[in-house]
Order: sequence, then C-alpha cells, then structure tokens
Amino acid sequence: MNRLAPSILSADFSRLGEHVAEIEKGGAGIIHVDAMDGHFVPNISFGAAVMKSLAGKTKLPFDVHLMITDPDKYAPEFVTPQTEYITIHQEACVHLHRSIQAVKALGVKAGVALNPATPVSSLECVLSDVDMVLIMSVNPGFGGQKFIPVALEKVRQLSEMKKARGLCFDIEVDGGVTLENAAEVAGAGANLLVAGSAVFKADDIPERCRAFNEIIRG
Ligand code: DX5
Ligand code: ZN
Repeated sequence: MNRLAPSILSADFSRLGEHVAEIEKGGAGIIHVDAMDGHFVPNISFGAAVMKSLAGKTKLPFDVHLMITDPDKYAPEFVTPQTEYITIHQEACVHLHRSIQAVKALGVKAGVALNPATPVSSLECVLSDVDMVLIMSVNPGFGGQKFIPVALEKVRQLSEMKKARGLCFDIEVDGGVTLENAAEVAGAGANLLVAGSAVFKADDIPERCRAFNEIIRG
C-alpha cells in the first residue's frame, strides 16, 4: 500500500511529540526525518538525537533522509529498532556501491536520493542493490518549496526500469507534494510520498493525513 511520509522538518519542534501523535492518528505510514549538515545543503536541521527522542513514543517507523556530505560516518547514529530506511544522496557518495552496502550492513533498508539535476540513469549499476530510490522534486535544503515537474518524468522512467528488470525497490518523492499533485505523483509510480508543509501547516493535521491517504491509496 502507498504510504504518506510526513517530514518533521516542517513540524513545530517545541511540540514535536504532539505533532507526531497527530500524524499517527491521521494514518501516516512513516516519519520522514530530514538530517542536514550545512555542507551538502545550505541549511542545518537536526541530528540523530532529535529522532531518537521520538523512538518508543510512536509506533511509526523512521524514514531517514541524510542530506550530509559524509553519510558513511553518520548513518550508524540513525539506527534504532524503528529505523526502516536510511537514504543517502548519490551526489554525496564517491563510492556509492560501497556506501549502499554499508547502510544495509546496519540492518536497515538502503535508499539512494537523486537531486533534480541528477539523471535516473546514474543509478543503473546499483539498481539491484537498493531498497528505495528517492526522487527529489525540489532542491534539498528547505521545506515549503515548489514542486519541480521533471521529477514526474524521472519517476516514470524509474518505474519502467524497475518493471523491465523485475526489481521491487520502493520509489519515494520528496518536495512540494500537496493534495493537488499527490494523485499524479502516485500515478507516476511513487509508493512513498513525503509531505512537510502540506501536512504540518494544516489547521487539522490528522484530517490532512486522511485526505492524503484517500488520494494516494486510490
Ligand atoms: C527538503 C526535504 C524535504 C522537505 C519537504 O530538503 O528533504 O523532505 O522537508 O517539505 P515540503 O513538503 O514542504 O516541500
Ligand atoms: Zn527529505
């Protein structure tokens, strides 16, 4: 089933526990955790300690998106019994194949993220190794940006490559996802939809999650 992945980057950090309870109540599938280091992207968000403060307080799994220059060094810090995916950026990894194996060796699913300017073809040689591909639909660094349409074409290409090769990795889309474009994003082949501001800036967060689920579960 397609899953909604609210990004806590857009949550009110002073009420993080309450906000997470609200998305859980609304039927979110997984918590998207955006870690930024101020090097790979021009912003600093939060580290593993913040994510770990939620462990055990929610039943939702964690979907860790590392926007950092040295994922090999920091990925282990994000491993908890609730961590389902750790996603590293293709653009940050000189030895991508090795870094994917290193994430898997931590006992979690390995994702690889592509910035808007990075083609899907750059993953051809590692597609059979990944558990998830994250297509960025904004340039990473900030919540609340506008969806870049080329992402849809990339999701379609990736879905075709997946089918042609009989693979079963997940496809996630991240950035500028709203109630208005969610159907098109899921229709293109994405089964994990990240939404930050569209969820946490809503007046009624559980209701907004339910509205997303109605759209993406088809
Ligand atoms: C961007 C982050 C996204 C972001 C999504 O760098 O990776 O996960 O928080 O936020 P919205 O949905 O507001 O674009
Ligand atoms: Zn993200």
